[in-house]
Amino acid sequence: MRTVFWDYDTNQTKMIEQRLLPEVFEVVAFDRCADVGKAITDMVIRGAPAIGGAAGFGMALAAQESDARDLASLQEYVHRAAEELRLARPTAVNLAWAIDRMLRVADAVEGSADDLREAMLKEAQTIADEDVEINKRMAEHGAALIEDGDTIIHHCNTGSLATVDWGTALGVIHTAHEQGKNIHVLVDETRPRLQGSRLTAWELKEYGIPFDIISDNMAGHFLHTGQVQRVFFGADRVSANGDVANKIGTYMLALAAKDNDVPAYSVVPTSTIDLSLAHGGLIPIEERTQDEVLGLDLLGRKASPEGATARNIAFDVTPNRLITGIVTENGVVYPPFDINLPKFVRKFES
Ligand code: MRU
Repeated sequence: MRTVFWDYDTNQTKMIEQRLLPEVFEVVAFDRCADVGKAITDMVIRGAPAIGGAAGFGMALAAQESDARDLASLQEYVHRAAEELRLARPTAVNLAWAIDRMLRVADAVEGSADDLREAMLKEAQTIADEDVEINKRMAEHGAALIEDGDTIIHHCNTGSLATVDWGTALGVIHTAHEQGKNIHVLVDETRPRLQGSRLTAWELKEYGIPFDIISDNMAGHFLHTGQVQRVFFGADRVSANGDVANKIGTYMLALAAKDNDVPAYSVVPTSTIDLSLAHGGLIPIEERTQDEVLGLDLLGRKASPEGATARNIAFDVTPNRLITGIVTENGVVYPPFDINLPKFVRKFES
């Protein structure tokens, strides 16, 4: 099942409620764009490409929920909805990328308001379908980097749940497994929201891929003792020079990988590459509520004294010098990223 999809019987956006996994599998439905925005903020759905997919369908809902009869009024309405949706989360560029793509379609419609509704739903569906196809292509390129017998450290959740389907870094691992490669995954639990131990481990179990969960601070030990051959993670935004913003902890993981000569790959669709930003220092980094750090788990049990305060930075930026290669749907890009990445992205722009 796809992580986010349009239900053509009910005309709703539906998505897997990721906060309840792995205990409960539930699909939730949305009728309004603003509610999709809240679902993104609250992380009912998360992961950069999945956020992009949800944003596309959210915009289609915006066109549908408005009772505007004429084209100009509906165009104005979807633009207003877009500006609110844009604020849902700051770091994953796929959100703005999908919204802008939907707005371009809305602005190009010349017929009736209903033509706009139809065109926007069609575009949202295309974004979702393309995501799956792109992930499968990335997975083929990335799987070629994995050797039989490899132990791989994976950070956060980058699988089907982080995309419309299949995944980025976890999609690579899944494809390598399907190719018959004997691999073992060390799953960073990924504090504070535990995307690794809750979601990645759940997916790996479903796929029958051998794994062990490790706490994030064990990664250095496994790398230093020669027990890891590859490190794979995704990205929420990659700047033009190849700096990678990804789930908090990626930087420390990449540092430890570099220190131990273990290759570290970021797997990203080109929709995650933001050529408008020269370097990673310009990427907006989300800070979330301290409750996520202070709670022992998502049920809110306390792991800290009453009254303690915390910081909760959701992403960090890994400098390009620590990245071995950036895997995209069009192939793998290697250093020097400041030269090769923009050239590579532009080569495939339609
Ligand atoms: O805060 P999240 O769970 O949305 O963060 C997700 C990640 O950092 C993923 O690694 C990233 O989106 C890339 S993989 C699809």
